Amino acid sequence: MAQLDLTSTIQLNNGVAMPRFGLGVWQTDNTTAAASVTAAIRHGYRMIDTAKQYGNEAGVGRGLAAAFADGSVRRQDVFVTSKVMNGDHGYERTLAKFEGTMRRLQLDYLDLYLIHWPVDGLYVATWRALEKLYRDGRVRAIGVSNFDVQRLQVLMRSATVQPAVNQVEFNPVMQEHEMRDFAAAHNIVVEGWSPLGGGQALSNPVVGLIAQKHHKSAAQIILRYDVQSGVVTIPKTVHEQRW
Ligand SMILES: NC(=O)c1ccc[n+]([C@@H]2O[C@H](COP(=O)([O-])OP(=O)(O)OC[C@H]3O[C@@H](n4cnc5c(N)ncnc54)[C@H](OP(=O)(O)O)[C@@H]3O)[C@@H](O)[C@H]2O)c1
Repeated sequence: MAQLDLTSTIQLNNGVAMPRFGLGVWQTDNTTAAASVTAAIRHGYRMIDTAKQYGNEAGVGRGLAAAFADGSVRRQDVFVTSKVMNGDHGYERTLAKFEGTMRRLQLDYLDLYLIHWPVDGLYVATWRALEKLYRDGRVRAIGVSNFDVQRLQVLMRSATVQPAVNQVEFNPVMQEHEMRDFAAAHNIVVEGWSPLGGGQALSNPVVGLIAQKHHKSAAQIILRYDVQSGVVTIPKTVHEQRW
C-alpha cells in the first residue's frame, strides 16, 4: 500500500480532502485539550475530533488559536470535526446550538459536522439543519455518527445532501462489516472511533505476538491495521511520546 503519513487524505463525496489520521479528544478536560491540540499540531497532526458532548470545545478552540497564532499552521491546514449533541436535535435547535460550538472553537467555519447519535424521531429534522449549514458555507462537509444501515437508509431517502461520513466504533475486535459494505457502496467514508478499543485492544495477545514479530508497539500494530482497513482513524492520547 502507498506510503501513509499524517498528511495523507481521503476524498469525501463532495471532493473535500479529509485526513486519514487525526487526534481524538474525548475524556480530555479543557486545559489538557488546549495543550494537546497545540502540541499535536506541532507534531504534524492535521485533524482534531471533538464534540459538544465532550465539554472541551473551548479548550480545543484555545489550542487551535495558539497553533494559528504561532504560525504552526494556517486555518485551512487543519480539519476540525464537531458533533450535534443528543439534547440539541431538531431543526431550529441544531442551527442555534451550532453557533455556540463555533464560538467555543473560535472558528468561522467547521470542516465536518456530525450528528453524534441518531435520536429517533428527530434525526431527519436535524439533518435538514446540517444541510442548511452546508449550503450556507458554515461547514465544509456533513455526516453522521453511530448510525446503523437502517437509520442511514431512512436519512438518505429524504436527504438533499448525502452524508459524507459515518463515524462508528472500529478496531480489530469491532469490525462493522455490514456498515462498511453499505458505506463503500454509497460513497460514505467510515471513520473509526475507539481505534485502540479505548486502550483495551492493546493487551490483546494476538496483537502482542504481531508486535513482537515486527518490533513495533501494540498501538502501532493496531493503528496500522485500522488505517489499512480504509477507515479514518482518530486515536486519543494526551501523552506526547505517543503522538
Ligand atoms: N462518535 C462517538 O460516539 C465516539 C465515541 C467514542 C470516541 N469517539 C472519538 O474517537 C476518539 C478515540 O476513541 P477513544 O478515546 O474512545 O479510544 P482510543 O483512541 O481507542 O483509546 C484511547 C485510550 O488509549 C490510551 N492510549 C492511546 N495511545 C496509547 C499508546 N500508544 N499506548 C498505550 N495507551 C494508549 C489512551 O490513554 P492516554 O491518553 O493516557 O495515552 C486512552 O486511554 C475519541 O477521543 C473521540 O474523539 C467518538
